[in-house]
Amino acid sequence: MRGPSPWIAGLVASSGVASAAVVSPPGGHAFYNDYGYEKEAYGMHPYQAHRTLSHDVPKFNILQSNAECATSMYTFLAPRGKQMLTPQATIFDSDGRLVWTSGYERQQLYDLKVQTYKDEKYLTFWSGDDTVGGHGAGTIHMFDKNYKEFKKIRAANGKDADLHDFVITPEGTALITIYARRDVDLSPVGKTFSGPVWDCYIQEIDIETGAAIFEWSALDHLKISSAMNEIGTDGENDVPWDWFHINSIDKDNRGNYLVSSRFLQALVYIDGGNGDVLWIMGGKDNMFIDRSGGNATNFAYQHDARWADDYTAITLFDNAVDDMHLERALTRGLKIRVDQTTLSAEIVAEYFNPRKIIGKSQGSYQTLPNGHVLLGYGDSAAFTEYAADGTVLCDVHFAPESRYTFSDVMSYRVHKYEWHGWPLTLPVSILDQSEDREWKVYVSWNGATEIKEWILEGAKDLTWTNETGQIVDTTEWKKLTTKTKVDFETAIDLQYHYPAWLRVVAKDAGGNVLGVGESLNGTAFGQVSLHD
Ligand SMILES: *[C@@H]1O[C@H](CO)[C@@H](O)[C@H](O)[C@H]1NC(C)=O
Ligand SMILES: *[C@@H]1O[C@H](CO)[C@@H](O)[C@H](O)[C@H]1NC(C)=O
Ligand SMILES: *[C@@H]1O[C@H](CO)[C@@H](O)[C@H](O)[C@H]1NC(C)=O
Repeated sequence: MRGPSPWIAGLVASSGVASAAVVSPPGGHAFYNDYGYEKEAYGMHPYQAHRTLSHDVPKFNILQSNAECATSMYTFLAPRGKQMLTPQATIFDSDGRLVWTSGYERQQLYDLKVQTYKDEKYLTFWSGDDTVGGHGAGTIHMFDKNYKEFKKIRAANGKDADLHDFVITPEGTALITIYARRDVDLSPVGKTFSGPVWDCYIQEIDIETGAAIFEWSALDHLKISSAMNEIGTDGENDVPWDWFHINSIDKDNRGNYLVSSRFLQALVYIDGGNGDVLWIMGGKDNMFIDRSGGNATNFAYQHDARWADDYTAITLFDNAVDDMHLERALTRGLKIRVDQTTLSAEIVAEYFNPRKIIGKSQGSYQTLPNGHVLLGYGDSAAFTEYAADGTVLCDVHFAPESRYTFSDVMSYRVHKYEWHGWPLTLPVSILDQSEDREWKVYVSWNGATEIKEWILEGAKDLTWTNETGQIVDTTEWKKLTTKTKVDFETAIDLQYHYPAWLRVVAKDAGGNVLGVGESLNGTAFGQVSLHD
């Protein structure tokens, strides 16, 4: 059964989003090593549907699991794509159970992370228009632990914030990427005229004031002839050529910036004072000695380059392939030891997908606090967690493998973080019939991470109208039953002797009340023999 039954649908204003799945997927929050899942037996977008939620969220196929991945950290995705009606920011637990999900004004969402600003944790993500040519024009959001928008961050100097990166530094500034069109002389790449290209900028923004305290442009410091991709017919007919394609920025303890350029197939290290290029690793202008026989610096179309090990190593997601070169090499997570004195690079570790999944665009590499490495495969709806030595611990798909490279369901990055959320909304509860036609109270509370148990309470009457015509609440709520919260949505069985009015109360592990749902009128449901 899919969603609330028709006659109750009117009571649940936001329910009933249609979905084009061919086979109704079985219940439960995840599949485990399900062969049919990967062959579209449950459609191109297997989903978890909840009666108390208005949109579908991906349902995982957990191909490999390990107790070592089941920490208190949650998994953060921003699923979108041709099969996703609602681009969303979504948090799951390590078993694939939903914790929180939200769209944002029907915009595309990218790069859901937890970052710290002035000792507080925030959910951060980008929203906006991603149809402007492999990048975005939009806004960055910071949500607090109550899922309330704390700040909107825009690019400074009249530019638009791109979707590729948003990093809050320990100093409380923000690093963002920007794409902007500029006309340049195209003769270095074999054309006889000037034409438009996408220039790439980094800005470091003062989060308080929104002002840029540093701005750097790739065109001002690098040659378009350094690009590894062909210009083709771009640069003509008003189609800008994407020659650099910035996709990550990191700042080190010297105040310098590390930038990843997909189309230079290189990392560029930039002086934080004057913007000079200090070195380039990879691509046509590689300055590094490769102590791994060429394999440390031959990454291509890479993403998410970050300093590691106290600035002596760099980690990155080496896509190794793109749309035009799907067979070029295997996608890998790559950790490189970097000696900046001798300009030499050496592989520390490589992380290959157990099923040889490739990521033709997007993708992420995160080093977890326990040393594990989490790779998100970008355009391919998959993430894999490895021990530091490369052993695969957990392997999860959030859409069928048969549809990878078709951009049906994807998440720009995948991350894991600790997170505690206290939503300002009320718990959502409804009376509905289960598949076997039993009436139950269904309850969930999107984003509430601290719920230990749900208490179902009942009352004979809610209110009465006093002499002056005002409604007075003298309700005496009595505890009827308790149910431990396990899944996102909890179904509570009803008994015939229950009173007509029902409500749910969420309690934490210490027995504190976290929130109370709206009162449900049990007598409104003809089939249910609730009486007082
Ligand atoms: C480089 O990587 C390829 C592919 O993994 C491998 O076959 C080759 O042996 C590696 N070369 C060196 C020198 O390690
Ligand atoms: C009616 O109820 C209102 C709201 O509780 C209260 O302020 C008011 O005093 C009541 N009037 C009488 C006559 O009881
Ligand atoms: C509760 O439901 C019953 C049965 O449909 C209805 O008669 C009654 O008016 C409802 N009460 C309220 C306060 O809506």
